[in-house]
Amino acid sequence: MNPAPDAPILFFDSGLGGLTVLGPTRALLPTAPIVYAADYAGLPYGQKSETELAARVPALLGRLVERYQPRLAVIACNTASTIALAHVRAALDLPIVGTVPAIKPAAALSKTGVIGVLGTEATVRQPYVDDLSARFAGGKTVLRHGSPGLVTGAEAKLRGEPVDPTVIARAIAGLRDQERGDAIDVIVLACTHFPLLADELQAAAGPAVTLIDGADGIARRIAALTEGQPWPAFPTPGVAVFTRSIDRPPPPLATLAPYGIDRIETI
Ligand code: DGL
Repeated sequence: MNPAPDAPILFFDSGLGGLTVLGPTRALLPTAPIVYAADYAGLPYGQKSETELAARVPALLGRLVERYQPRLAVIACNTASTIALAHVRAALDLPIVGTVPAIKPAAALSKTGVIGVLGTEATVRQPYVDDLSARFAGGKTVLRHGSPGLVTGAEAKLRGEPVDPTVIARAIAGLRDQERGDAIDVIVLACTHFPLLADELQAAAGPAVTLIDGADGIARRIAALTEGQPWPAFPTPGVAVFTRSIDRPPPPLATLAPYGIDRIETI
């Protein structure tokens, strides 16, 4: 059965990183009603344990699905997806799209055969990443580095605050300083926050390196999964919902307005 035209797509991240997936999705589906959920009370996910996230993410998504009745949910977070995607799919009865490191296209693009994966500390240690590397980058060298500083930097940049340049330099050095790191020609941005710092990361990595992320592919997947479903005739204003955090209030609405969001709620 088709969903009602006003049934939203739910995007979920620990913070504002998922906006980098929402952006290309809105470009493909401009009238899609959007709920953007950020777990500010849980940010940063990259510093949390597998056990904690495997319990937290399905429980929170369950509450959000009950409240907003989306037609589809997007886990716009590599950390949550590589740890909890299977748990969420088992717990919820709606299509779930995950976000996993774009190792496959990176391997296809690399000429040197050395790929960098920049993610959170939790993501880069996941067996899910071992699996992707074995399946899609066999015979290539996949170097990984976890950078919590880039998450903080991306949140700051979106709020119009300065980004500490040493954080950027340290993240690139974390890949370059590994054995064969000087031969990296493709870097996978394996955290949805990091494309928000693409200009800074590109400048630090140099022109010989291509940065790649999965957002366009995820947007196409969402469009394919909802093909033929009814949508509103005109763009409807989106809502952002933040889990309540004492030391991290939601950003000003102006930060979210370019993504079609005109209302902020907290839960
Ligand atoms: N945006 C998230 C990701 O894609 C994680 C950021 C964090 O909470 O550490 O991995």
